[in-house]
Amino acid sequence: MTTTTSMTALTLRPAAAAEFWAVARLFAALHHFNAGFDPRFRLAEGWEALLREHFVRTHRAPSALWLLAWRGDPSSGSGQAEPVGLLLMEAHTDSPLFAERRWAELVALYVAPAERGGDLGRRLVEASKHWAAAHGFDRLQLYVTASNERARRFYARCGLAPVQEIWRVELMPATGAIPPPDPSCVANGHASHQIELGHHHLAMELSDCPDEECDDA
Ligand SMILES: CC(C)(COP(=O)(O)OP(=O)(O)OC[C@H]1O[C@@H](n2cnc3c(N)ncnc32)[C@H](O)[C@@H]1OP(=O)(O)O)[C@@H](O)C(=O)NCCC(=O)NCCS
Repeated sequence: MTTTTSMTALTLRPAAAAEFWAVARLFAALHHFNAGFDPRFRLAEGWEALLREHFVRTHRAPSALWLLAWRGDPSSGSGQAEPVGLLLMEAHTDSPLFAERRWAELVALYVAPAERGGDLGRRLVEASKHWAAAHGFDRLQLYVTASNERARRFYARCGLAPVQEIWRVELMPATGAIPPPDPSCVANGHASHQIELGHHHLAMELSDCPDEECDDA
């Protein structure tokens, strides 16, 4: 997927194993941007190693799409190509309590500031829809911060619509109290990362997950 502009070509292609550095750079920029809306969105210490592990395990899996956009052609070997866009899609499975539990989730989307206002964002979302439909999904969804008005307008232009809201109130926790683990994350009395609800499953450990969920990872 290469288009030519008046400057250099824009290349969209799935991230290769050796291109994790570009994924990590754009992922960091996205989460730095998101932390501007809410400091709780900042990445944890050690995030890059976790993301790398997840990338290594899933970047060629049919259940995920790690798409990079480059200004220039990274395969030319010139070293001139610059990563300017990132799209991460994943198959998502909700709790088995629900009859309809599968959807395609747009986990991350980022366009570098210098590339905004062009066609790249729309092309990445088109690629996400194409990937989802080609993999048998009839629904694509994502989470966006309510105050990220630019992204909200952008997604609306791409044909998406808000269907649920997250409501929140800040609390004063009891002194010394440590929040217990999510009961869905406790297996055999021990905390694990097997969860079936919510979002941000990215880089969760899957060691305890049913085989069915691990097949293509
Ligand atoms: C969301 C995003 C992918 C959209 O891509 P985009 O290229 O900016 O999309 P658009 O070209 O449709 O532009 C979006 C808006 O920014 C405006 N804009 C475009 N280029 C701009 C620039 N250089 N400076 C200021 N505004 C600009 C557009 O006019 C448009 O405004 P409007 O909504 O009032 O019409 C991109 O802005 C981005 O990566 N943002 C940071 C990360 C983010 O929010 N990701 C989504 C989190 S869920």
